[in-house]
Amino acid sequence: MQLLDGKILSSQIKAEIKQQVEEWTAQGGKKPHLAAILVGNDGASETYVASKIRSCEQVGFTSTLIRLAATATEAEVLSAVESLNQDADVDGFIVQLPLPPRISENRIMEAVNPAKDVDGFHPVNVGRMCKGLPAYLSATPFGILEMLERAQIETSGKHCVVIGRSQIVGLPMSILMQRNTYPGNATVTICHSKTHNLKEICRDADILIVALGRPEFVTADYVKTGAVVIDVGITRVEDSTKKSGFAIKGDVKFDEVAPQCSYITPVPGGVGLMTICGLLTNTLKAAKREIQ
Ligand code: GUN
Repeated sequence: MQLLDGKILSSQIKAEIKQQVEEWTAQGGKKPHLAAILVGNDGASETYVASKIRSCEQVGFTSTLIRLAATATEAEVLSAVESLNQDADVDGFIVQLPLPPRISENRIMEAVNPAKDVDGFHPVNVGRMCKGLPAYLSATPFGILEMLERAQIETSGKHCVVIGRSQIVGLPMSILMQRNTYPGNATVTICHSKTHNLKEICRDADILIVALGRPEFVTADYVKTGAVVIDVGITRVEDSTKKSGFAIKGDVKFDEVAPQCSYITPVPGGVGLMTICGLLTNTLKAAKREIQ
């Protein structure tokens, strides 16, 4: 079994991005500028956004955090989006999800200028991705492709099973894995809460991508010997032995599954760190006006 180590890979990728920023600014380019809108103070979202901002500093980007109260209205969030659309200094921005349930995430995503949509959530970017046109790819699928590619994992003709059909991971992941390019050319099955015989389908997977958000759901009996297992889950579970009061769990029961895999991602220290690299890569492309 080989570990797909997000810590090692993400620090390599960040070093590459930092180098590209230095070259870009040396030629007179402006420092890439990423902004984030954070509504409320959900603990997990706070941690993710803080990590995105810290990563910007590490690679030489400018960053701006816009905080809105948990009580913010949809109109207030739309207004913050519009001011970032208009701000010529901001190359790309994200609205951290989830938003409070009274705010329509779809309406907010559609309000983002697609040229600044470095999360790749706007329908224009999703459509362009489906058509194989240049687009901002959403950060988590991008990070997973990068992991597969850098480990030179064969994907052509393989059976890739994706558990979870979310707009931000499962759905784009399934589209990207069947594209006529590397990493891709897989035969993809997408599974969800209504899927019959989930375990049997998973046991047939050469590449199993798990993104359903249920801690330790995938046990050894879901996994074929020699499979590649990518764990996208990041759930906080109470743990009184930890100083923080919680532990981070993936969707895969790592200790049980790892011995029978060819490759596996750990949680923490796996896909989550790669997601940030996807966001940074998209922001650099936005600064260079490479997409639209
Ligand atoms: N919440 C969980 N993942 C993401 C992400 O990739 N982008 C944003 N904006 N919110 C998230």
